[in-house]
Amino acid sequence: MKIKGAVLREPGKGKGYSIEELELAPPKKNEALVRYAYAGFCHSDLSNLQGKIMMQTPFVAGHEVAGIVEEVGPGCTKIKKGDHVVGTWMIPCGQCRQCARGRGNLCEGSFEYFVSGMLLDGTSRIKDKNGEMVRHGNFVSGFSNYSVVPENGLIPISKEFPLEYACMMGCCIPTGWGSVVNTAKIQPGDAVVIYGMGGIGLCTLRAAVMNNANPIIAVDIEASKESLAKEFGATHFICNKEVDPVEKIQEILGGTADVAFEAIGDPGAFLQAYWSIGNAGKVIVIGIQPHDATTNIPLQVMPFQQRSIMGNLYGSISTHVDIPRLVNLAMTKDFKLDKLVTNKFKLEDINDVAEAMDKRQIQGRWVLAFD
Ligand SMILES: NC(=O)c1ccc[n+]([C@@H]2O[C@H](COP(=O)([O-])OP(=O)(O)OC[C@H]3O[C@@H](n4cnc5c(N)ncnc54)[C@H](O)[C@@H]3O)[C@@H](O)[C@H]2O)c1
Ligand SMILES: [Zn+2]
Ligand SMILES: [Zn+2]
Repeated sequence: MKIKGAVLREPGKGKGYSIEELELAPPKKNEALVRYAYAGFCHSDLSNLQGKIMMQTPFVAGHEVAGIVEEVGPGCTKIKKGDHVVGTWMIPCGQCRQCARGRGNLCEGSFEYFVSGMLLDGTSRIKDKNGEMVRHGNFVSGFSNYSVVPENGLIPISKEFPLEYACMMGCCIPTGWGSVVNTAKIQPGDAVVIYGMGGIGLCTLRAAVMNNANPIIAVDIEASKESLAKEFGATHFICNKEVDPVEKIQEILGGTADVAFEAIGDPGAFLQAYWSIGNAGKVIVIGIQPHDATTNIPLQVMPFQQRSIMGNLYGSISTHVDIPRLVNLAMTKDFKLDKLVTNKFKLEDINDVAEAMDKRQIQGRWVLAFD
């Protein structure tokens, strides 16, 4: 069938996505055809576009999606036509050592397909108008109106949960929630700092509030991010363009933070997060730094102050366990998802959206709405 998608062909050259008509083959065994309703634009998409996160090209980009199952291939047992589903950008193989330990977010069996943009049989269902293969970005290739996805990368959800919010269950909500609950293991009364008030930082903030961290200091380089940060429950806001956040945090807390989250992907902000903690403090690295970024920190303070630096991929979640739980939670408790989505845009406008994110002009999450 004919579909329309945003294809990333030449990352890092400032050329943007090319919006193309593509040919999508039907689902094979254990795969489904999904009509996407919404796809969030995440900073990892921008980093792909700018060549900071490398994947094999060309691919249909986009990894934060929700939609409706149109057709299932042979062998599907967990989903059926008409189901509302969230797509996941990692699909645990269930066989590897990490999967066996409950760490499907770090699956070693599927990772090569993730990076090469292939489905789990090592092939693609997408071709361009010249008949050349186009890859499935992050398994779900979310910036296209339809895609074929392995069944295990689709989580059925209640039809009562709006699809415009459900798309964020594919990335920013579980990443933020899981970084607080699974990785940092926040305790009530922990003093928390969150660097970066984009989609990921705001979901991290909301999770910190809902898990009774206090105080919660939000830091962003743009002063315009303060009102949403306060609305989401930050007790304090620091603009690190205006003041040194490390000093200001010490002043507010009368000491150092228990946990600092870096939700930007900036080497300077990582260092500020590192110096925001002290004795027994943890830095949770959510932001994905450019592939060649390094840092320089004194090592002796690590044991003397018992500091930890913890990487965090996909909130250390188990997709099939945590995403349904988070949907249930979002249906009864206030994740403020209506405030998180501040704009809906069309596929044709996606390059303008990437530019707005690069200029740090996006508030919350902007989501692509398909017709
Ligand atoms: N670890 C994971 O599994 C995972 C998953 C998704 C996204 N990410 C990463 O999380 C990061 C954030 O993603 P997002 O979609 O929220 O991005 P975003 O662009 O929506 O938000 C980033 C925020 O950081 C602010 N900012 C930029 N530079 C800053 C600085 N030096 N100091 C303070 N604030 C600064 C911007 O103003 C913006 O508000 C990205 O690096 C993304 O790749 C990681
Ligand atoms: Zn993402
Ligand atoms: Zn695995």
